[in-house]
Amino acid sequence: MLTNDQLDQWDRENFFHPSTHLAQHARGEAPSRIVTGGSGCHIEDRNGNKLLDAFAGLYCVNVGYGRSEIAEAIAAQARELAYYHAYVGHGTETSITLAKMILDRAPDHMSKVYFGLGGSDANETNIKLVWYYNNILGRPEKKKIISRWRGYHGSGLITGSLTGLELFHKKFDLPLDRILHTEAPYYFRRDNLDQSEEEFVAHCAEQLEAMIEREGADTIAAFIGEPALGTGGLVPPPAGYWEAIQKVLDRHDILLIADEVVTGFGRLGSMFGSTHYGIKPDIITIAKGLTSAYAPLSGSIVSDKVWKVLEDGTDEFGPIGHGWTYSAHPIGAAAGVANLKLIDELNLVANAGDIGAYLNDGMKDALADHPHVGDVRGEGLLCAVEFVAEREGRKYFDASEKVGARVAAALLSDGVIGRAMPQGDIIGFAPPFCLSKTEADEVISKTRAAVESVLGK
Ligand SMILES: Cc1ncc(COP(=O)(O)O)c(C=O)c1O
Repeated sequence: MLTNDQLDQWDRENFFHPSTHLAQHARGEAPSRIVTGGSGCHIEDRNGNKLLDAFAGLYCVNVGYGRSEIAEAIAAQARELAYYHAYVGHGTETSITLAKMILDRAPDHMSKVYFGLGGSDANETNIKLVWYYNNILGRPEKKKIISRWRGYHGSGLITGSLTGLELFHKKFDLPLDRILHTEAPYYFRRDNLDQSEEEFVAHCAEQLEAMIEREGADTIAAFIGEPALGTGGLVPPPAGYWEAIQKVLDRHDILLIADEVVTGFGRLGSMFGSTHYGIKPDIITIAKGLTSAYAPLSGSIVSDKVWKVLEDGTDEFGPIGHGWTYSAHPIGAAAGVANLKLIDELNLVANAGDIGAYLNDGMKDALADHPHVGDVRGEGLLCAVEFVAEREGRKYFDASEKVGARVAAALLSDGVIGRAMPQGDIIGFAPPFCLSKTEADEVISKTRAAVESVLGK
């Protein structure tokens, strides 16, 4: 076996890591880890550390690590038929079965699933479909997409543009034209501290309406949003937000894309975030929880209304010119079928709701009174703690103090993985759905200890 030293060196010399400080990594100054195994909510590294992964990888290993049922389904599929494409009407037993299983779980008005590989390419597909849709309908000017500041929708050209986080735009010449950003539904960070939650929701809807009127509704194709903000800070929407937004969109004939890459398949304690919050989307993006990341697979679920136009479009213009070699890859589909079965068998969606409430209540009890904690929030198995320099007047720390990253590092040194969210001093948790009460207690008590070690009592 290779020694750690050799692998570390090969890593620095050969491997271009995503979302990494490249220079520090190459010099061996940045934190790095070679992960070797996982079981339940824990991962292990080559140095023998066992860590409680309270972010489920990148909030994707929803059923937990080491599930042999999924591993065996993948192996069986690889032996029987590792690959065949899905172009010109081809399919495999697993990809067809998975499409049916997804539609059985999705809101009633959804019609078909297009399969991709990851969340970014699924959103890329969605934007193309929306443009195609408006071209078929003879509305070539209706093409702009409204996203939200702090939304996260991927890091491709269009999807990185949709993402409303500075880090993903800086020095990449993004966002591209046709992409607009409106107010984030982030009540804690509202400008006007005197605003009630209800007033803030009205303000978000007014901002959206004003943008649509400024640009002209006949130039706006779609609005995209995560049911609960994810990477932008793990923020459940204020009460009534989606109802207010949906009304504005309906009034202006603007499609709604619900990006459920994080919330799809149970993270909020409901099968979909759309049903959780009463959203009626035209397209739903799915990825992570579809296979619990045992194999790469994503999807765009399109509604009856969108499907009908696409169908008519191909009658008029011929086959749709969109597809990837690996669309509906049988190995990804096999992982998806086994994963969704396991979620049902183990009742993991309900568990995500129950253990999520336990984690969120416990985190509030343990941390809400700390003088540098401004907000403890969450929904289902999303939970976040946001730090402030002063609670009075909600004054933030200077970004250079890296408070969120320091708390995450202190927690990690105590054996628990939380995620320092990329914008603001926020530590986030999104553990696997099989989290036990004992594990939730460990996350809570060690978070309190980490906060005290960085920010005092
Ligand atoms: C809501 C949302 N959409 C899209 C993506 C992009 O997915 P991927 O990283 O698989 O391209 C992510 C990734 O975290 C996400 O959270």
